[in-house]
Amino acid sequence: MNKAELVNILSDNTKNDWLFKEADRIRHENVGDEVHLRGLIEFSNICKCQCKYCGLRSLNKNVERYRLSAKEILLAANNAVELGYKTIVLQSGEDDYFDTDKMCEIIKDIKKLDVALTLSIGEKTYEEYKAYKEAGADRYLLRIETTDKNLYESMHPKASYENRIQCLYNLKKLGFETGTGCLVGLPSQTIESLADDILFFKELDADMVGIGPFIPHGQTPLKDAKQGDFWLALKVMALTRLNLPDINIPATTAMETINSNGRIIALQSGANVVMPNVTSLEYREKYEIYPGKICLNDSAEQCRKCIGNKILSIGRTISENFGFRNS
Ligand code: SAM
Ligand code: SF4
Ligand code: FES
Repeated sequence: MNKAELVNILSDNTKNDWLFKEADRIRHENVGDEVHLRGLIEFSNICKCQCKYCGLRSLNKNVERYRLSAKEILLAANNAVELGYKTIVLQSGEDDYFDTDKMCEIIKDIKKLDVALTLSIGEKTYEEYKAYKEAGADRYLLRIETTDKNLYESMHPKASYENRIQCLYNLKKLGFETGTGCLVGLPSQTIESLADDILFFKELDADMVGIGPFIPHGQTPLKDAKQGDFWLALKVMALTRLNLPDINIPATTAMETINSNGRIIALQSGANVVMPNVTSLEYREKYEIYPGKICLNDSAEQCRKCIGNKILSIGRTISENFGFRNS
C-alpha cells in the first residue's frame, strides 16, 4: 500500500472489521496457525536514557533499580527452557554495567541451552552488535518508536534519530533477525506519521514488528498525556501484517494492559507471537515501563499455562520450533 491508502484506512473506522479479518487471513496464509512463545527476561531496569514516555528513564528517582546477576539470568533461562520456550528474550534498560564481554558470556551460556536468543538492550555500536552476533545472538529488537523525526527528537532528549536508523540497518547488515516497531498515541503523533512508520518497516524489511499503545506513566514528563487508543494500535498492527505478510508480529503486553482480552484480539487480527514474562516475581513490579502491567504476581509457570490455554481456546497451536521468519 502507498501512504495515501494507509492514511485512508487508518482514518476510516468503518473498514475496521474488514481490516482485522483480512490481516487474520493473511497471517493464516503466510505464517500459519502456530503461535510462537518467547520467554522474556527483564534482566535490568537500570537505564541511562531519558525517553520521555518510559518509567525506567534515568531521571525517575522513584524506581527501585535492580540488575540480575549472570547466574540469575541463566536460572531464569533454564526455567523458561523447562517450560518449553524455544526463544529467550533478554531485555533491559541501557545499562552500561553489561559491557560487551559480560553480554557475550551471557549470550554464549544461554545458547548452550539450544534456544534462539533475542536481545533488546538498546542502541550500541556496530562492533558491539557484531560481537553479540558472533557470540550467538540470533535476533534483536529495537523499535524506531516513531518515524516523525521532530517527535522522535522531542521524546528522546540528547538522542539522535539518525543513529536509531543506523542501528537498525547495522543489525540487518550483521544478519540479525531484526525487530522494530512503534508506539501508537504519543502526544501530537499524526495518522500520516503512523502510515510512514509502516512504510519504514517495509523499507527496512523488518523481520519482526511490535506495535504497542502508549500508556502514560505517572513519574514521567508525559504523566498527563492521553493514553494511546487500543483500536488504532490494532489497526497499525493489522496493516503491518497486510504489508509484510510473512514476518513475526507479537500480540504485545501493552495491548493487554489497556484491553483485558488484548492479546487474543491481536492474535486474531494479524499477530502470531506472544512474549510471556519469565522474570522471577521479585523483580516484576520494578520493571515498570508503564503502569498496570499484567502478570505482576503470576509466576513463569502460571503465565505459560494461562497463555497456552488462551491460545488453544481460539483454535491455534503452540509452535515447537524456533520460529524464525520463513521457518
Ligand atoms: N531499553 C530498550 C529499548 O528501549 O529498546 C528495551 C526496553 S524498553 C522498556 C522496550 C519498549 O518499551 C520500548 O521500545 C518502548 O516502545 C516501550 N515503552 C516504554 N515506555 C512505554 C510506555 N509508557 N507505554 C508503552 N510502551 C512503552
Ligand atoms: Fe531506557 Fe528503553 Fe525505557 Fe528508553 S524505553 S528509558 S531506553 S528502558
Ligand atoms: Fe501471565 Fe496470563 S499470561 S497470567
